[in-house]
Amino acid sequence: MEASNTPPVHIRPEVLAVPAYKQGATPEKKGYKLSSNENPFPPLPAVQRAIAEAQVNRYANAALPELKAKIGELYGLDPATSMQRVHVGAGSVSILYQLVQATVAQGDNFIYPWPSFEGYPMLALVAGGEGRGVRGNDDGTHNLDVMADAIDERTRAIMVCTPNNPTGPIVTKQQFANFMQRVPSNVLVVLDEAYAEFVTDPEAVRGDEEVGKYDNLVVLRTFSKAYGLAGLRAGYGVGHPMIWEACRVVGIPLSVSPQAEAAALASLEAESTRQLKENIAVLVERRERLVQGLRDQGYEVAESQSNFVWLPLRDNSQELALAFAEQGTLVRNFAGEGVRISVGEEESTHEVLRITAAFQQGA
Ligand SMILES: Cc1ncc(COP(=O)(O)O)c(C=O)c1O
Repeated sequence: MEASNTPPVHIRPEVLAVPAYKQGATPEKKGYKLSSNENPFPPLPAVQRAIAEAQVNRYANAALPELKAKIGELYGLDPATSMQRVHVGAGSVSILYQLVQATVAQGDNFIYPWPSFEGYPMLALVAGGEGRGVRGNDDGTHNLDVMADAIDERTRAIMVCTPNNPTGPIVTKQQFANFMQRVPSNVLVVLDEAYAEFVTDPEAVRGDEEVGKYDNLVVLRTFSKAYGLAGLRAGYGVGHPMIWEACRVVGIPLSVSPQAEAAALASLEAESTRQLKENIAVLVERRERLVQGLRDQGYEVAESQSNFVWLPLRDNSQELALAFAEQGTLVRNFAGEGVRISVGEEESTHEVLRITAAFQQGA
């Protein structure tokens, strides 16, 4: 078969125009993978047991009542309300696709901050709509005023990512309240809190405090990051029951696996929660050391409330990413924007500072 740049079948031109999502690479030599904001800790023993015991010859019960009840507890919901207001998907990104698919049609638009999660730009395409990326401030925060200015009568959904991936800062409670006042009440707002467990700033907006206030708000969280279950694909949303009803229409049925369900449930047990909090505290401490170490070396480093740090290197991000790759450690280059380095194993923090120091000296 001949290689050609022309697809063999008709593909929507707007789909061809957008590059596919690229996963953070895996190191080829011995080194650290600090390119996907994954959790360096192995699964907790209770979670490993639950995965091993999950019955994979059966589908999970699509309604996931036990898991929804457990998640609902975190939001102060009783089990019956949890069944209505909690939605579970194969990763929070699959819920994002459902939300956009359910709200954005041809000619509609979808607003997202930029730079932010690389999964956002292609979301609107799925439904034939227009994605409007709104450039954030130089300190890595969202420019919520400009995002609100970008709303028009065809806006159907807006992303708010806090802490923002890849830059790290949070949206404050006050900023969020002001923003919500400017969003029409029939426009969906998605508060993406994929990294919320790493937040230590008391001013940060919290989805669990906001979600009951607005019918047009859904909050998304994931088991991929702080819970360390990236490979199992489980995320959840909390919000208005009719929004989830619509998501069930467009979502792929039965995509949450029995292992993902069992692992998520085991992660929410009291003992697992205690252990996870300890692991999170370790990662937060490493993050703070990394930020300080990089600043001491003379780098500009964004305020991070997440499990990664961001160096806004507009001119030489590619060079720094290459300097890491040469040592077998992978970080994420956002060309022309900066470099994102995930907080990984303890030894990886020393390796990061060693490589950045050498790079600084060579620069
Ligand atoms: C901001 C943000 N949202 C959502 C996701 C998707 O996470 P998952 O689909 O693993 O739950 C990611 C993954 O990196 C992310 O960074």
